[in-house]
Order: sequence, then structure tokens, then C-alpha cells
Amino acid sequence: MEFFLDTADVDEIREIASWGILDGVTTNPSLIKKSGRDFKTVVAEIASICDGPISAEVTAMDTAGMIEQGLALKEALPPNVIIKIPCTPEGLAATKVLTAANIDTNVTLVFSASQALMAAKAGATYVSPFIGRIDDTGSDGLTLISEIMTAWEHYGITTKVLAASIRHPTHVLACMQMGAHTVTMPAKIFHQLMSHPLTDKGLDGFMKDWAEVEAAGKA
Ligand code: G3P
Repeated sequence: MEFFLDTADVDEIREIASWGILDGVTTNPSLIKKSGRDFKTVVAEIASICDGPISAEVTAMDTAGMIEQGLALKEALPPNVIIKIPCTPEGLAATKVLTAANIDTNVTLVFSASQALMAAKAGATYVSPFIGRIDDTGSDGLTLISEIMTAWEHYGITTKVLAASIRHPTHVLACMQMGAHTVTMPAKIFHQLMSHPLTDKGLDGFMKDWAEVEAAGKA
């Protein structure tokens, strides 16, 4: 399973990249706004920190505009940047064209299995179902991941399922059980996934005992 960081904060990216298990980064216009930085400058810096796929999102609403922005981003930014495109009819058409040009894409704002299937048919490298935002409406976002994974098995689809809008560690565990290829999550969830009180307690005990071994000159 690939672990992506969902942020445009380079300090967070440096920290999680230093753990050695960061596979990619996703950004979106809201995360770029939160960073307070210039879009292309910050994406280029992110791409220099993490050599996995870095999603940079187009903001045009029409197909021609999305293609133009996608090509321009590929031209201006490092090769590991991939193009994030909204799941609209115009976005499908842009995905088809960029895929034909050998440009990797991440079709985002996916809220149904039918949208995911259509994005896959357009050749998307990744599709991004938003789990947490579905939960926010009172439905179960994880059901969507299950529906998509089942459809994928029927048709042997190679598009990767990138579970997004992750709100807590159990979202990640459930996605693992269902075989989702990738999750993108905030830094807080990386920390939550790695933290266990028994690890801290056990390590504390080992260190105290080791200090006594050293004090006895037996280290
Ligand atoms: O990358 C987009 C997605 O992960 C958004 O998450 O928390 O804004 O619903 P959230």
C-alpha cells in the first residue's frame, strides 16, 4: 500500500519523508492556499523532497483549459509531478488526452463507484474517492472504497484507488483490508498510525534497565 501525505506544508513533508516510508504527496487548491506560498514554487520544492508522485491540480473548468494547464505544469515542474483533474465530463476528456500524451493523472473529487469507473475508462493513473466528506453527509465513505475495489476485481482495472479525505487511523486500516492501492492523509494520521502507548512504555523500561547495565560497567 502506498502512503501519500495530503499537504502542501514542506516542513511536514520533510518530517514524514525522513521516516523513509513516504510514497507521494497530494495537494489541492485549498492546501496551496493554506501554505501561503506560490503554487509552482511550493510544488517544485515538494517534488524535490519526495521523489514519488506529487499531485498538482488544474483549476480550469473546461477540457481545453485543463489540458493546457496540465501540459504547462508538466513543462514547468519536475517529472514526478502528476496532474490532478476534477471528476467532471470535461475532466474525463482532459484525462483521456493527457493519458494519451503519457502524462500520469489523479482524478479527484470522486464520490461514487460510477465516477471512479468512468475515470478509469478515461485512463486515469489514480482515482481519489473522498471518504471523510462522504462520512460528513451521514453516509459511509468506506462503502464506496469497497464498491470500487469489487468493480476493479470484475474488470481487471489497473487504475490505482487512492483513498482520500482520511480523517482517522481506522479509515486507513479499513482501506488496507479492502486492498486500496494508496491512501493520502494528513501528517497527524501518520503520527497516529505509528504511535502506541505500549511501545513507549516498553522502550522506557528497556532504557531504564540499560542505564543500570551501563552504570554497572557491563555495557
Ligand atoms: O486531497 C484532498 C482530500 O484528501 C481532502 O480531504 O479533509 O479536505 O476532506 P478533506
